Amino acid sequence: MTSFYLSTPYQPPQAPTNLPLNQPWALFGGITPDQFMKRYWQKRPLLVRGAVPAFALSEVSATPLDSPISAKELAAFAQDDLVETRLVKSKPWSFTSGPFSKKEIPSIEKPNWTLLLQGMEAHHPAAAKVLSWFRFIPDARLDDLMISIAGIGGGVGPHFDSYDVFLMQMSGRRQWKISEQADLSLNPNLPLKILKNFKAEKEWVLEPGDMLYLPPHVAHDGIALDAGCQTWSVGFRSPSFKELLQEGLWRLAESLEDIPGLEEKFADPKQGATQNAEQLPDELIKQVGDKLKGLKLDKVDLFLPGITAYLSEPKQQAFFDGPSTPLNPKLFTKKLEVSSLIPSPQTRILSLGKQVFCNGEHVSKAQTPEIVKAWQVLAAKKVLSALKLTPKGMGSLYEAYRAGWLIFRA
Ligand code: SIN
Ligand code: CO
Repeated sequence: MTSFYLSTPYQPPQAPTNLPLNQPWALFGGITPDQFMKRYWQKRPLLVRGAVPAFALSEVSATPLDSPISAKELAAFAQDDLVETRLVKSKPWSFTSGPFSKKEIPSIEKPNWTLLLQGMEAHHPAAAKVLSWFRFIPDARLDDLMISIAGIGGGVGPHFDSYDVFLMQMSGRRQWKISEQADLSLNPNLPLKILKNFKAEKEWVLEPGDMLYLPPHVAHDGIALDAGCQTWSVGFRSPSFKELLQEGLWRLAESLEDIPGLEEKFADPKQGATQNAEQLPDELIKQVGDKLKGLKLDKVDLFLPGITAYLSEPKQQAFFDGPSTPLNPKLFTKKLEVSSLIPSPQTRILSLGKQVFCNGEHVSKAQTPEIVKAWQVLAAKKVLSALKLTPKGMGSLYEAYRAGWLIFRA
């Protein structure tokens, strides 16, 4: 509705550091995050009217609220090669990946297209703020915030996701049809993953400020009813066990480097003369077996650091730009005393007990206790403020600042 009347961009608030988990939230229609998780998360869809009450409240004012990001700004992001973008046209179905030239981006007035911009929390502070509302769900599950903008009739077709998703209407109206059907077979003749037999069971028209939560595998189809319709989707990934174990095993294999006993060489003084020279010797099999038992490879604890490191890896297209004139360690500590250090929007930080992993690295490893503590605070609160540290032994915290993983809040 952007282009039809005067509107004000909605300014989403940053969530407080300690989220009130046992109080009712408008975001969930007046239930608490605890209740949401028990009743809906991974279980059933939830439609919330007025999840962001500011939109409905603004309807009575002369300048109603609109999305924090304008159609024009989104078109500019779609031309940026640091933003993962896709363009879907619906009549007939077609799919292309960005970045796009200005000419390739359909004008808002044209029907039957939608532009999808992934990982927008990294590119616009309003998207990062909206994402901060969802920190009652473990960071390890979070994927990103995607924004779609569409012309009338635009959408990606009836499909299902393997993700949990919160679909927030931010501009214009979108009709959502959903179905908990068992038949999730796809039409093999289309360039997109579109269901062969979608049978809508429920449908709603979402207005700005409304939200629809869908657990994985609920079939859905969202069709833009207004030019410039914007839906912001907060998506949560679920890695497969194959992925987790493979990634854990790779890193576990690398960590064997640190076990001195494994440098020892296989020896076979008991090997007898053999007629089966081609066979792997029993003695080698036995000794490797003994070593494996000693390593306790069946214990989950051994895999967890690798899995946490893996899940803390940034998105593939993440790009970190360190400061052009970095402060030296002494000035860095001075600045830390008076300002706030925060993760860059593309940085991922996860903790495993007291260990902290940032962008795939075990950053708390071999650090002084005060740096370990600083990382733990950063992981938990996503901000480090007014901190007095000794400039010596700034270790991985300073390195992360130099690499652009951590930045000073402006
Ligand atoms: C959209 O925003 O158009 C698509 C989101 C989805 O269906 O997952
Ligand atoms: Co979807």
